[in-house]
Amino acid sequence: MPHIAIISSSVRIGRNSHRVALYFKNYLEENKLATAEILDLKVYNFPVFDERLRYQEEPTPGVLDFAARINAADGVIIVTPEYNGGYPAALKNVTDLLYDEWHRKPIAISTASDGIFGGTQVITSLQWTLWKIRAWTVPAMFPVPRVQVSFDENGVPKDKDATDNRAKNFTGELLWCIEAKSRMEKK
Ligand SMILES: Cc1cc2nc3c(=O)[nH]c(=O)nc-3n(C[C@H](O)[C@H](O)[C@H](O)COP(=O)(O)O)c2cc1C
Repeated sequence: MPHIAIISSSVRIGRNSHRVALYFKNYLEENKLATAEILDLKVYNFPVFDERLRYQEEPTPGVLDFAARINAADGVIIVTPEYNGGYPAALKNVTDLLYDEWHRKPIAISTASDGIFGGTQVITSLQWTLWKIRAWTVPAMFPVPRVQVSFDENGVPKDKDATDNRAKNFTGELLWCIEAKSRMEKK
């Protein structure tokens, strides 16, 4: 069974997009599609990095832990809020931290906002950066409008059937890429 790391990108006090990260973990496990873990940037509480991991002389255990978990994951789901049309600094901080760890890593992007557009303005800037860093971004979207009412604090969706149906398509694309990559690597 593949293993998926879910990056929860908001470190804001009273954040709501973390609910979507909780949802994906539950969804993947409940449907036995993958094992999953949340890499919570609020828990890691990283400083703004002054250099990339491979040039750091004394990386902290937290940095090494994050890098190892990205490296070990078969695929990644990034859950990100939209802040002023872009993604949060905490996410850019960890994106630029790593390099080889991202190479050919299947990554699916889920965006969230408290308004009606679901944070979709984030996608082009985040896709571009992930492409530059040689990740394999999956062509699927999971925008979450009005995140504060669409999910409760435990990540339970208000409309479970509709949300699960969207998640099936979204995670299905990611799992397809994970499978394709694993077949290539068997050769
Ligand atoms: C600094 C900042 C900028 C924001 N900019 C936007 C925005 O451009 N578009 C939008 O729809 N929501 C915006 N929001 C509201 C977020 O969509 C809202 O906080 C939502 O709950 C997701 O972020 P969270 O996980 O931090 O709660 C912004 C919030 C913050 C804190």
